[in-house]
Amino acid sequence: MKSILSLQRIKTYFRLDKLLIKAVDGVDLEVYPGEALGIVGESGCGKSALLLTILRLLPHNAHFSGKAIYDGIDLLGISEDKARKIIGKNFAFVPQSFGASLNPVMKIGFQIVERSLEHSNVKKDVKRDVTDLLRKLGVEEAEKTVQRFPHQLSGGMKQRALVAMGVFGEAKIVFLDEPTKGLDVVKKRLTMDLLRKAREETETTFFVISHDIEFIESVASRICVMYCGQIVEEAPKKDFFKKPLHPYSKALLESLPSRGMKAIKGEAPSMVNPPSGCRFHPRCELAEEVCIKSEPELLRIDNRFLRCHRGDGFE
Ligand SMILES: Nc1ncnc2c1ncn2[C@@H]1O[C@H](COP(=O)(O)OP(=O)(O)O)[C@@H](O)[C@H]1O
Ligand SMILES: [Mg+2]
Repeated sequence: MKSILSLQRIKTYFRLDKLLIKAVDGVDLEVYPGEALGIVGESGCGKSALLLTILRLLPHNAHFSGKAIYDGIDLLGISEDKARKIIGKNFAFVPQSFGASLNPVMKIGFQIVERSLEHSNVKKDVKRDVTDLLRKLGVEEAEKTVQRFPHQLSGGMKQRALVAMGVFGEAKIVFLDEPTKGLDVVKKRLTMDLLRKAREETETTFFVISHDIEFIESVASRICVMYCGQIVEEAPKKDFFKKPLHPYSKALLESLPSRGMKAIKGEAPSMVNPPSGCRFHPRCELAEEVCIKSEPELLRIDNRFLRCHRGDGFE
């Protein structure tokens, strides 16, 4: 199948005083139409930086290289203005820090509708749709909420309004960064249900980032694990949860309350001076000399990808 978005050798480094933080350090990834790709990894591993690079939303202290090809155009190779036009028309983004994304002087309902109508001529019974959508996300008094301004809403409610904006619009790809952060169990479940429903009823492609693996398990069709700025494993969801191949993926799953709650030993690595060889080797029980000396490549194994010298032969 042909991918809808092709990420090639993406690197994003932040300069901070004299330090160079290698937040994204060589990401290759194909995103396929209609899939829900879930990116997981510990906090600080470069998930948001990857997203902000694709969307051309990086701060001034960032340098990026590589390609992000959408519809034959490299979004990283054209001016920010040109990229922004293509991105605005085809992508929706639900950011991690949601406060800044809602227009403070515009009613919530209008903002949700505006986004979805901006680039289409479709006339719908939009008001009813928005109210319905917010209700599905567990917003009480949804009719009143659409009439409110952002400052009249709680943080969690704003976040759900943003999810609604992403899902309700007609974007080809919806990017969500930690969509359940700060939500209680019930609201989290409602968000999951809505995303799943959107997947069933639309052909939209989803690119979802979360440190919450259980959430990703419930909404994604394919899993991609990031560690220290790189992808270490990529697999269809079922295969991943049945048998994760990378020692880091295994450790991540074993750290879940439902799977033993075993903390991952050691510290998250420095992104200024990443460990030699395999970046996970200082924390890996299976590390051998080769893992310290040489950096493994991300290699295909059947329908998945793995960055590990131990191949898939280990248990
Ligand atoms: N604007 C910035 N300036 C300097 N460093 C940054 C900036 N944004 C992020 N970083 C650093 O880049 C790394 C990756 O961050 P981020 O992509 O936000 O991680 P994640 O989303 O996986 O939690 C972290 O070490 C973070 O401190
Ligand atoms: Mg983040």
